[in-house]
Amino acid sequence: MNNYVNDLFGLEGQVALVAGASSGIGAEFARALASAGADVVLGARRADRIEALAEDIAKATGRKTLAVSLDVTDRASVEAAFEKAKAELGVPTIVCNNAGIARPNWALEDSEEDWDATMNTNLKGMWRVGQIAAKAMLENGKGGSIINTASILGLGVGPQQLTYATSKAGVVQMTRAMAIEWQRWGIRVNAICPGYFKTEINDAFLDSELGQRMLAQSPAKRAGKLAELVPAMLMLASPASSFTTGVALPVDGAHSVRLA
Ligand code: NAI
Repeated sequence: MNNYVNDLFGLEGQVALVAGASSGIGAEFARALASAGADVVLGARRADRIEALAEDIAKATGRKTLAVSLDVTDRASVEAAFEKAKAELGVPTIVCNNAGIARPNWALEDSEEDWDATMNTNLKGMWRVGQIAAKAMLENGKGGSIINTASILGLGVGPQQLTYATSKAGVVQMTRAMAIEWQRWGIRVNAICPGYFKTEINDAFLDSELGQRMLAQSPAKRAGKLAELVPAMLMLASPASSFTTGVALPVDGAHSVRLA
């Protein structure tokens, strides 16, 4: 990389923490952050998966990695993960706030439990991680970049997505609220809004007739590839976006802007 590009986009000297790193988008983000020069903390509930992944990423990139147990629905678990990260690699200056679940259901069928579980992980979980990350960054005095994985379903809605879309719309608004308050400390907060990328969260839906029809009708007529999501995250993580905060950035092949 030449110096100009490296100064803008390189992540050397930074520590990144990825919440929900055990599969899909989070795993891909962890790999990319290490490739761009950051040491990476992988947080998730499935210890076996993140330990193997952390080892694999360290071998492939030569960066330091750490697997930490992290449940975003449990404040003590999030605080402990940040403490462990600080003790072993340093305070994270990049946080990919990415853990999420989906429980597609017709609106008349959603239960109290569906609502609570979705909100507690997708919205309150991201709030917990964001607040704890910002407190650590503030104390550290170096600022940082928090990237919330929202969704195009935070910008528009689709059938059977009441709880999920409501939680992700909350993430978009929360991102803006965090951005305006924390800018003074050099803490940037942005949301990335993926369109459809095939992962464990949606593979059954994307293979279904409804999912196939939805993709066929989208402007790109296909799902995105994870490698097509990574550059937007790296841009938001890097010094290149030092004046970019409070943004909700769709990466969706124009899926979210099509009206008919
Ligand atoms: P995934 O199911 O592979 O990943 C979700 C991750 O969140 C997993 O690592 C899972 O273990 C973790 N997670 C769930 N609950 C957790 C908890 N309580 N504590 C810690 N970790 C927890 O699916 P994917 O697609 O990689 O999802 C990542 C994020 O991207 C989610 O927030 C999802 O809503 C969002 N998203 C995904 C899209 C897609 O098309 N795949 C589209 C738009 C947004």
